[in-house]
Amino acid sequence: MSARAAPERATAFAPASVGNVAIGFDILGFSVEALGDRVSVSRRAAPGVAISAVRGVAGELPQEPRDNTAGRALLAMQEALHLEFGFVLEIDKGIPLGSGLGGSAASAVGAVVAANALLPTPCGKLELLKFAMAGEAVASGSRHVDNIAPALFGGLVLTVGIDEPRVKQIPVPAAVRAVTVHPHMFLATAKARAILSRSVELSDFVWQTAHLAGFISGCYTDDLDMIRASFEDVVIEPQRQALIPGFQEVRRAALAAGALGCSISGAGPAMFAWTLEPSAPAVLAAMRREFAARELASDGWITELRGAGARVIG
Ligand code: HSE
Repeated sequence: MSARAAPERATAFAPASVGNVAIGFDILGFSVEALGDRVSVSRRAAPGVAISAVRGVAGELPQEPRDNTAGRALLAMQEALHLEFGFVLEIDKGIPLGSGLGGSAASAVGAVVAANALLPTPCGKLELLKFAMAGEAVASGSRHVDNIAPALFGGLVLTVGIDEPRVKQIPVPAAVRAVTVHPHMFLATAKARAILSRSVELSDFVWQTAHLAGFISGCYTDDLDMIRASFEDVVIEPQRQALIPGFQEVRRAALAAGALGCSISGAGPAMFAWTLEPSAPAVLAAMRREFAARELASDGWITELRGAGARVIG
Protein backbone atom coordinates (compact mmCIF):
# COMPACT_ATOMS: atom_id res chain seq x y z
CA MET A 1 0.00 0.00 0.00
CA SER A 2 1.32 3.49 -0.75
CA ALA A 3 2.13 6.18 1.84
CA ARG A 4 -0.57 8.78 2.61
CA ALA A 5 -1.11 11.84 4.77
CA ALA A 6 -2.34 10.18 7.95
CA PRO A 7 -4.55 11.83 10.60
CA GLU A 8 -3.19 12.62 14.08
CA ARG A 9 -6.04 10.95 15.97
CA ALA A 10 -8.58 8.19 15.33
CA THR A 11 -11.26 6.36 17.30
CA ALA A 12 -12.22 2.74 16.64
CA PHE A 13 -15.09 0.56 17.84
CA ALA A 14 -14.36 -3.12 18.46
CA PRO A 15 -17.25 -5.47 19.26
CA ALA A 16 -17.63 -8.04 22.01
CA SER A 17 -17.26 -11.67 20.99
CA VAL A 18 -18.15 -15.19 22.03
CA GLY A 19 -15.10 -17.45 22.04
CA ASN A 20 -14.98 -21.22 21.50
CA VAL A 21 -18.62 -21.42 20.25
CA ALA A 22 -18.78 -24.68 22.26
CA ILE A 23 -16.78 -26.92 19.94
CA GLY A 24 -13.92 -24.72 18.70
CA PHE A 25 -11.81 -24.15 21.80
CA ASP A 26 -9.41 -21.27 21.16
CA ILE A 27 -10.01 -21.28 17.38
CA LEU A 28 -13.66 -20.35 16.71
CA GLY A 29 -15.60 -17.26 17.77
CA PHE A 30 -18.30 -14.83 16.67
CA SER A 31 -18.72 -11.10 17.14
CA VAL A 32 -21.53 -9.65 19.27
CA GLU A 33 -21.89 -6.18 17.81
CA ALA A 34 -24.50 -4.96 20.31
CA LEU A 35 -21.72 -3.92 22.66
CA GLY A 36 -18.03 -3.16 22.43
CA ASP A 37 -15.09 -0.97 23.40
CA ARG A 38 -14.14 2.39 21.91
CA VAL A 39 -10.45 3.17 21.71
CA SER A 40 -8.99 6.53 20.67
CA VAL A 41 -5.35 6.76 19.64
CA SER A 42 -3.37 9.97 19.09
CA ARG A 43 0.12 10.33 17.67
CA ARG A 44 2.86 11.84 19.79
CA ALA A 45 6.42 12.71 18.81
CA ALA A 46 8.14 10.54 21.43
CA PRO A 47 8.17 6.78 20.73
CA GLY A 48 6.41 4.51 23.21
CA VAL A 49 2.83 4.25 24.41
CA ALA A 50 1.01 6.18 27.13
CA ILE A 51 -2.52 5.61 28.43
CA SER A 52 -4.22 8.88 29.26
CA ALA A 53 -7.66 7.59 30.29
CA VAL A 54 -9.63 4.42 30.96
CA ARG A 55 -13.38 5.00 31.29
CA GLY A 56 -16.62 3.07 31.15
CA VAL A 57 -17.69 -0.21 32.72
CA ALA A 58 -14.15 -1.27 33.64
CA GLY A 59 -12.24 1.78 34.79
CA GLU A 60 -9.81 -0.14 37.01
CA LEU A 61 -7.59 -1.44 34.22
CA PRO A 62 -3.79 -1.15 34.48
CA GLN A 63 -2.53 2.18 33.08
CA GLU A 64 1.00 0.86 32.58
CA PRO A 65 1.04 0.08 28.83
CA ARG A 66 2.94 -3.23 29.18
CA ASP A 67 0.27 -4.54 31.56
CA ASN A 68 -2.69 -3.32 29.54
CA THR A 69 -4.05 -5.33 26.60
CA ALA A 70 -4.46 -2.28 24.36
CA GLY A 71 -1.10 -0.81 25.42
CA ARG A 72 0.74 -4.07 24.83
CA ALA A 73 -0.84 -4.47 21.40
CA LEU A 74 0.41 -1.03 20.37
CA LEU A 75 3.88 -1.75 21.76
CA ALA A 76 3.94 -4.89 19.60
CA MET A 77 2.94 -2.80 16.59
CA GLN A 78 5.64 -0.20 17.30
CA GLU A 79 8.33 -2.81 17.71
CA ALA A 80 7.41 -4.72 14.56
CA LEU A 81 7.08 -1.62 12.38
CA HIS A 82 10.02 0.31 13.92
CA LEU A 83 7.83 3.39 14.26
CA GLU A 84 9.65 6.61 15.12
CA PHE A 85 6.63 8.17 16.80
CA GLY A 86 4.50 7.12 19.75
CA PHE A 87 0.83 6.72 20.69
CA VAL A 88 -1.45 8.04 23.41
CA LEU A 89 -4.42 5.82 24.19
CA GLU A 90 -7.88 6.53 25.62
CA ILE A 91 -10.03 3.50 26.32
CA ASP A 92 -13.82 3.56 26.79
CA LYS A 93 -14.83 0.14 28.03
CA GLY A 94 -18.27 -1.05 27.00
CA ILE A 95 -17.52 -4.70 27.83
CA PRO A 96 -17.30 -5.73 31.50
CA LEU A 97 -14.06 -7.40 32.61
CA GLY A 98 -14.15 -11.09 33.47
CA SER A 99 -17.45 -11.53 31.61
CA GLY A 100 -16.41 -14.03 28.94
CA LEU A 101 -17.38 -11.54 26.24
CA GLY A 102 -13.93 -10.81 24.85
CA GLY A 103 -13.35 -7.50 26.61
CA SER A 104 -9.56 -7.70 26.58
CA ALA A 105 -9.58 -8.71 22.92
CA ALA A 106 -11.86 -5.79 22.00
CA SER A 107 -9.56 -3.24 23.64
CA ALA A 108 -6.53 -4.69 21.88
CA VAL A 109 -8.33 -4.82 18.53
CA GLY A 110 -9.76 -1.32 18.92
CA ALA A 111 -6.28 0.01 19.68
CA VAL A 112 -4.59 -1.52 16.64
CA VAL A 113 -7.45 -0.54 14.29
CA ALA A 114 -7.36 3.09 15.51
CA ALA A 115 -3.53 3.22 15.41
CA ASN A 116 -3.54 1.72 11.93
CA ALA A 117 -5.51 4.73 10.71
CA LEU A 118 -2.59 6.92 11.82
CA LEU A 119 0.09 5.02 9.90
CA PRO A 120 1.41 6.46 6.64
CA THR A 121 1.31 2.89 5.28
CA PRO A 122 -1.51 0.96 6.97
CA CYS A 123 -1.18 -2.73 7.80
CA GLY A 124 -3.47 -5.51 6.61
CA LYS A 125 -5.86 -7.22 9.00
CA LEU A 126 -3.71 -10.33 9.43
CA GLU A 127 -0.83 -8.19 10.64
CA LEU A 128 -3.16 -6.32 13.01
CA LEU A 129 -4.37 -9.69 14.30
CA LYS A 130 -0.84 -10.59 15.40
CA PHE A 131 -0.34 -7.28 17.25
CA ALA A 132 -3.70 -7.65 18.99
CA MET A 133 -2.84 -11.22 19.96
CA ALA A 134 0.19 -9.93 21.90
CA GLY A 135 -2.21 -7.68 23.82
CA GLU A 136 -4.74 -10.44 24.55
CA ALA A 137 -1.96 -12.58 26.06
CA VAL A 138 -1.52 -10.01 28.86
CA ALA A 139 -5.01 -10.71 30.20
CA SER A 140 -5.31 -14.46 29.79
CA GLY A 141 -1.70 -15.64 29.92
CA SER A 142 -1.81 -17.20 26.46
CA ARG A 143 -2.01 -16.14 22.83
CA HIS A 144 -5.39 -17.31 21.58
CA VAL A 145 -7.34 -15.93 18.68
CA ASP A 146 -10.96 -16.90 19.14
CA ASN A 147 -11.96 -13.46 20.47
CA ILE A 148 -9.40 -11.34 18.61
CA ALA A 149 -10.27 -12.66 15.15
CA PRO A 150 -14.08 -12.17 15.28
CA ALA A 151 -13.67 -8.77 16.97
CA LEU A 152 -11.42 -7.73 14.08
CA PHE A 153 -13.13 -9.42 11.12
CA GLY A 154 -16.78 -9.74 12.29
CA GLY A 155 -19.23 -12.66 12.13
CA LEU A 156 -18.33 -16.29 12.80
CA VAL A 157 -14.57 -16.67 12.35
CA LEU A 158 -12.27 -19.70 12.35
CA THR A 159 -8.55 -19.09 12.82
CA VAL A 160 -5.90 -21.69 12.03
CA GLY A 161 -2.38 -21.04 13.33
CA ILE A 162 -0.83 -18.60 15.78
CA ASP A 163 2.44 -17.33 14.29
CA GLU A 164 1.07 -17.38 10.73
CA PRO A 165 -2.70 -17.27 11.33
CA ARG A 166 -5.14 -18.08 8.55
CA VAL A 167 -8.62 -16.65 9.03
CA LYS A 168 -11.89 -17.84 7.55
CA GLN A 169 -15.21 -16.02 7.95
CA ILE A 170 -17.84 -18.74 7.99
CA PRO A 171 -21.34 -18.16 6.61
CA VAL A 172 -24.15 -18.92 9.07
CA PRO A 173 -27.71 -19.80 7.95
CA ALA A 174 -29.56 -16.47 7.65
CA ALA A 175 -32.37 -17.39 10.05
CA VAL A 176 -30.03 -18.14 12.95
CA ARG A 177 -29.56 -15.62 15.76
CA ALA A 178 -27.15 -15.59 18.67
CA VAL A 179 -28.54 -15.04 22.15
CA THR A 180 -25.86 -13.98 24.62
CA VAL A 181 -26.49 -13.55 28.34
CA HIS A 182 -24.09 -12.05 30.85
CA PRO A 183 -24.82 -12.82 34.51
CA HIS A 184 -23.37 -10.13 36.72
CA MET A 185 -20.41 -11.92 38.22
CA PHE A 186 -16.66 -11.85 37.57
CA LEU A 187 -14.71 -14.86 36.37
CA ALA A 188 -11.01 -14.50 35.55
CA THR A 189 -10.06 -16.07 32.23
CA ALA A 190 -6.69 -17.15 33.64
CA LYS A 191 -8.50 -19.07 36.41
CA ALA A 192 -10.91 -20.73 33.97
CA ARG A 193 -7.93 -21.81 31.86
CA ALA A 194 -5.83 -23.00 34.80
CA ILE A 195 -8.41 -25.63 35.82
CA LEU A 196 -8.34 -27.35 32.40
CA SER A 197 -6.78 -30.79 32.13
CA ARG A 198 -3.74 -30.98 29.79
CA SER A 199 -4.85 -34.29 28.28
CA VAL A 200 -7.98 -35.48 26.45
CA GLU A 201 -9.50 -38.97 26.32
CA LEU A 202 -9.32 -40.51 22.85
CA SER A 203 -13.10 -40.98 22.66
CA ASP A 204 -13.65 -37.32 23.62
CA PHE A 205 -11.18 -36.28 20.93
CA VAL A 206 -13.21 -38.22 18.36
CA TRP A 207 -16.51 -36.62 19.46
CA GLN A 208 -15.05 -33.13 19.63
CA THR A 209 -13.49 -33.31 16.15
CA ALA A 210 -16.71 -34.80 14.75
CA HIS A 211 -18.72 -31.99 16.30
CA LEU A 212 -16.40 -29.26 15.03
CA ALA A 213 -16.44 -30.70 11.52
CA GLY A 214 -20.22 -31.19 11.66
CA PHE A 215 -20.82 -27.69 12.95
CA ILE A 216 -18.69 -25.99 10.28
CA SER A 217 -20.12 -28.12 7.46
CA GLY A 218 -23.65 -27.46 8.79
CA CYS A 219 -22.97 -23.72 8.62
CA TYR A 220 -21.72 -23.92 5.04
CA THR A 221 -24.64 -26.08 3.87
CA ASP A 222 -27.53 -24.46 5.80
CA ASP A 223 -28.02 -27.76 7.63
CA LEU A 224 -29.71 -26.83 10.93
CA ASP A 225 -30.03 -30.47 11.99
CA MET A 226 -26.26 -30.93 11.63
CA ILE A 227 -25.60 -27.74 13.60
CA ARG A 228 -27.93 -28.87 16.37
CA ALA A 229 -26.40 -32.38 16.53
CA SER A 230 -22.87 -30.95 16.62
CA PHE A 231 -23.50 -28.25 19.23
CA GLU A 232 -21.89 -30.12 22.10
CA ASP A 233 -18.53 -29.52 23.76
CA VAL A 234 -17.45 -32.77 25.41
CA VAL A 235 -13.99 -31.52 26.48
CA ILE A 236 -13.99 -28.00 27.96
CA GLU A 237 -17.58 -27.40 29.07
CA PRO A 238 -17.72 -30.37 31.48
CA GLN A 239 -14.64 -29.01 33.25
CA ARG A 240 -15.81 -25.41 33.47
CA GLN A 241 -19.52 -25.65 34.12
CA ALA A 242 -19.11 -25.76 37.91
CA LEU A 243 -17.74 -22.19 37.73
CA ILE A 244 -21.12 -20.89 36.51
CA PRO A 245 -24.08 -20.97 38.94
CA GLY A 246 -27.08 -22.59 37.26
CA PHE A 247 -25.16 -23.62 34.13
CA GLN A 248 -27.17 -26.84 33.55
CA GLU A 249 -30.50 -25.14 34.22
CA VAL A 250 -29.71 -22.21 31.91
CA ARG A 251 -28.70 -24.61 29.15
CA ARG A 252 -31.77 -26.80 29.61
CA ALA A 253 -34.06 -23.76 29.63
CA ALA A 254 -32.52 -22.45 26.39
CA LEU A 255 -32.97 -25.81 24.66
CA ALA A 256 -36.54 -26.14 25.95
CA ALA A 257 -37.31 -22.68 24.52
CA GLY A 258 -36.16 -23.85 21.09
CA ALA A 259 -32.40 -23.21 20.94
CA LEU A 260 -30.25 -25.27 18.58
CA GLY A 261 -27.57 -25.35 21.25
CA CYS A 262 -26.28 -23.49 24.29
CA SER A 263 -22.85 -23.29 25.90
CA ILE A 264 -20.36 -21.10 27.75
CA SER A 265 -19.26 -17.87 26.11
CA GLY A 266 -15.46 -17.98 26.09
CA ALA A 267 -14.20 -18.67 29.58
CA GLY A 268 -17.58 -17.64 31.11
CA PRO A 269 -19.57 -16.71 33.07
CA ALA A 270 -21.58 -15.40 30.07
CA MET A 271 -23.49 -18.06 28.17
CA PHE A 272 -24.80 -18.07 24.63
CA ALA A 273 -27.29 -19.96 22.50
CA TRP A 274 -27.98 -20.18 18.79
CA THR A 275 -31.62 -20.25 17.78
CA LEU A 276 -33.93 -19.42 14.90
CA GLU A 277 -35.07 -15.81 14.86
CA PRO A 278 -38.71 -16.36 16.01
CA SER A 279 -37.67 -18.18 19.19
CA ALA A 280 -34.82 -15.81 20.11
CA PRO A 281 -36.83 -13.64 22.59
CA ALA A 282 -38.12 -16.76 24.40
CA VAL A 283 -34.62 -18.25 24.60
CA LEU A 284 -33.25 -14.97 25.96
CA ALA A 285 -36.01 -14.73 28.58
CA ALA A 286 -35.58 -18.38 29.63
CA MET A 287 -31.82 -18.02 30.14
CA ARG A 288 -32.16 -14.79 32.12
CA ARG A 289 -34.91 -16.32 34.25
CA GLU A 290 -32.64 -19.17 35.34
CA PHE A 291 -29.84 -16.79 36.29
CA ALA A 292 -32.36 -14.61 38.17
CA ALA A 293 -33.53 -17.69 40.10
CA ARG A 294 -29.94 -17.85 41.42
CA GLU A 295 -30.02 -14.16 42.33
CA LEU A 296 -27.86 -13.22 39.38
CA ALA A 297 -28.99 -10.14 37.48
CA SER A 298 -28.04 -10.31 33.83
CA ASP A 299 -27.84 -8.46 30.54
CA GLY A 300 -28.73 -10.13 27.28
CA TRP A 301 -28.55 -9.50 23.55
CA ILE A 302 -30.01 -11.02 20.40
CA THR A 303 -27.65 -10.49 17.46
CA GLU A 304 -27.10 -11.59 13.89
CA LEU A 305 -24.06 -13.68 13.03
CA ARG A 306 -22.77 -11.47 10.26
CA GLY A 307 -21.23 -8.42 11.91
CA ALA A 308 -18.74 -6.07 10.30
CA GLY A 309 -16.08 -6.32 13.02
CA ALA A 310 -13.91 -3.49 14.28
CA ARG A 311 -13.98 -0.17 12.44
CA VAL A 312 -12.81 3.42 12.62
CA ILE A 313 -15.70 5.61 13.77
CA GLY A 314 -14.03 8.97 14.08
N1 HSE B 1 -10.81 -19.52 24.25
C1 HSE B 1 -10.60 -18.80 25.46
C2 HSE B 1 -10.96 -19.69 26.64
C3 HSE B 1 -11.49 -17.60 25.45
O1 HSE B 1 -12.01 -20.33 26.57
O2 HSE B 1 -10.21 -19.74 27.60
C4 HSE B 1 -11.33 -16.73 26.65
O3 HSE B 1 -10.65 -15.57 26.33
